[in-house]
Amino acid sequence: MKIENKTPIAEEIIRNNPTGHGLFAGIGDNFNSVAQVICELMDDAVSNLRANSGDPELSMRVVLSLENLGDAVEISVTDGGTGIADLSSALTIACRDGAQTPLNEHGFGLKHALASCDSSPEQMWSIRTRTKADAAANQYREVKAPYSMGTSELDKPMKVRFYSGTGDLPHPTGTSISVRCPMAKFRTVKPDRKAAPSDFHNLVRYIIEELRYVYAGILANTPITMEVWEISGGEETQHTLTPLLPVWEEGSVKDYGEIPCNLGGGPLTIRCKYGNILKNPSNAIYYKCNMESSGVELRINGRAIEHGMFDRVWGEAIHPSQNRFLVQVDLISDNPTALPATKNTKTSFCEADPRLKNLLSWIASYVPVPAKDVDSVELRCVRELTAKRENDPTALRVSREEPVFQKIGLKAKVDLFVGYIDRVTIYEAKAGKTKALDLYQLRMYVDGCALDNKPVDEAVLIAKRHSAEVKELRDILNTLTAPDGRPYNFRLATWDEEGIVIRQSA
Ligand SMILES: Nc1ncnc2c1ncn2[C@@H]1O[C@H](COP(=O)(O)OP(=O)(O)O)[C@@H](O)[C@H]1O
Ligand SMILES: [Mg+2]
Repeated sequence: MKIENKTPIAEEIIRNNPTGHGLFAGIGDNFNSVAQVICELMDDAVSNLRANSGDPELSMRVVLSLENLGDAVEISVTDGGTGIADLSSALTIACRDGAQTPLNEHGFGLKHALASCDSSPEQMWSIRTRTKADAAANQYREVKAPYSMGTSELDKPMKVRFYSGTGDLPHPTGTSISVRCPMAKFRTVKPDRKAAPSDFHNLVRYIIEELRYVYAGILANTPITMEVWEISGGEETQHTLTPLLPVWEEGSVKDYGEIPCNLGGGPLTIRCKYGNILKNPSNAIYYKCNMESSGVELRINGRAIEHGMFDRVWGEAIHPSQNRFLVQVDLISDNPTALPATKNTKTSFCEADPRLKNLLSWIASYVPVPAKDVDSVELRCVRELTAKRENDPTALRVSREEPVFQKIGLKAKVDLFVGYIDRVTIYEAKAGKTKALDLYQLRMYVDGCALDNKPVDEAVLIAKRHSAEVKELRDILNTLTAPDGRPYNFRLATWDEEGIVIRQSA
């Protein structure tokens, strides 16, 4: 349908004011985990403290309290900031009047977070705040659930209520936001791939790791401090958060320090550090040297936004041997237009943003991607095995990555091919424990060699150890014959037997 400029014969007003509960139900639930919801509340506290860090009367402490109520969790974030002067604009969706730092990007986070915990008619939340003016008048102010727009009799306006005293706020000024989150939703802090059920304490531990990661740059470089109070069964445990930092492999790290840059929206500073990291077994999610947690980590003013992104910077999927490679990039600026825009969950950047594109090309230009096979355990073992065979006078030909099935142009390669004086042996290597499929892969190589007219006398699957089913499968396969009619001769060997020590540098 083409849009035309015709003169109408009549007009009617569209009545599209949403109701508060309708809008609340509509905007909630875009987060993958309640930990991200909590980050929105933490962001508001951090933003206020960062914008007012010059005020010596404020407390730079943010406390997240998590109280186990059985079927729900009472989540509260309390800060010692300036308090909220204008609660109307703070509670207006998409209103950016109160923005203080680039962390207040969407005018959305607070409402989004409350709605994401519970947007049902039973929703329970409260905002309690105290500015310097309130403190002088010995009062505090409070707004409570439910969210409303005050558009009709059924959608009564929310009210700010004034009370005398401090309202249990721990600092002379500040804000405390509490929201009740049903337990089923609170459990989303546990990543789906973790199978074992988690008790409340474990769920709190996931949140702590998330906060230590997301705010690492803030905890490390600013006076802002964070605590998590875990309250369950009448007991209270207080955790003071330290930044979660990767453990770098010595000698692999390059730190560019602070580099002035412009991504198209004005000057900013890029902090960039990269290298190989070592596995930290005490982390549940981050810096695990796996595909999910490695690659490029992007932050704004110390706050993590997105990670992974390897393929978007270097145009191809990360190779398992590059899993320890990490690039940390932190964009420092108080000017929101200098920074690439984030999605309104703040868990990724807006893909089409030209400043993001410029940032990704900056990374591709200044950070060299590591060679694919550096340092994989399997490869190091194969190299050692190759060296041993090369020193064996009875081995006439030692060839790594020997192509097979060339007859049909297959790109298959055998890990190691050894032509001894009296026999040909091929090796398929695995760093850890073998699977049935590994033996079948080796069988494919034997078949390929037979068809390529370099028949194999012995095919060795070498690994750290072999499962019972692999041993059974070997016995079965050894009763069969290759395409050239020769009987198969599969053997299972271990690195131990070869005197090769698996050195896990990760
Ligand atoms: N803890 C807090 N301290 C001071 N001001 C706050 C706090 N939480 C929220 N606000 C005010 O409420 C506004 C709206 O918050 P929010 O909905 O998260 O949107 P945004 O952070 O994008 O502005 C903030 O801009 C800020 O002015
Ligand atoms: Mg916010």
